[in-house]
Amino acid sequence: MADMVREVLVFKDNEAMAEFAIEKWEEISQGAIDERGYFTVALSGGRSPVLLYEKLSAAKELKWDQTHIFMVDERFVPYESDWNNYRMITETLLRRVNIPEVNLHPILTEEVSMQASAEKYEEDLISFFTTLPRFDLIVLGIGMDGHTASLFQGTSAVSEKKRLVVPVPLTGAAMRYERVTMTFPLLNNAENVMFFVNGADKAEFVREVIKDENSSLPAAMVKPKSGKLIFVLDKGVASLLTREQN
Ligand code: 6PG
Repeated sequence: MADMVREVLVFKDNEAMAEFAIEKWEEISQGAIDERGYFTVALSGGRSPVLLYEKLSAAKELKWDQTHIFMVDERFVPYESDWNNYRMITETLLRRVNIPEVNLHPILTEEVSMQASAEKYEEDLISFFTTLPRFDLIVLGIGMDGHTASLFQGTSAVSEKKRLVVPVPLTGAAMRYERVTMTFPLLNNAENVMFFVNGADKAEFVREVIKDENSSLPAAMVKPKSGKLIFVLDKGVASLLTREQN
């Protein structure tokens, strides 16, 4: 197996980051479609990717009928909540494009316990992929405490070795909601992982993840075994990285 390849790219603003990410999405999705007829991608919530999702909805070349969209994680709140990731992704992207319902894979948050939701999502993944999923692309963010997906430092989700999806009960002040999340065995089996991170207030964490490789931060534990790790950053968030990182 080939080693992981890492790339750190810095752009002048969120707009330029989104344009690059869309080009990457086009390239990776076309490759997957040419090879096997469909493209699989897992998306994160948060504020950072909103412009990316909006711009993706207007990208002309994308083959939505051959694209399967999964969720990296979900706050365990009803769809109507402003904090529901799937709602944000639906409003910014999914309802603006012509994608078949069967290609959408939300994490359930209603009429089900958090535990059952995680189990069901894992079953959905296994029935779709039939084996340990190897996503063509996973889009991740980095939170103010160095979390990624819903993998928070000090929670058992971070050390999960077997399950692909787990519930994340409330553990500390940093977590305002219970959540359901993909785990490292799944994230680190991806073909491509793209961190999409902006905002100068996160510069310290981004330095710790990229430059110091501080392995106590969940975001620094993302290392797709034989895949590609791409950091797409704006100038502000990259301000504490040295030039040779770019
Ligand atoms: C979520 C995420 C989470 C997010 C980071 C960054 O659902 O919120 O999956 O890991 O990517 O917290 O969030 P911001 O982009 O809002 O800073």
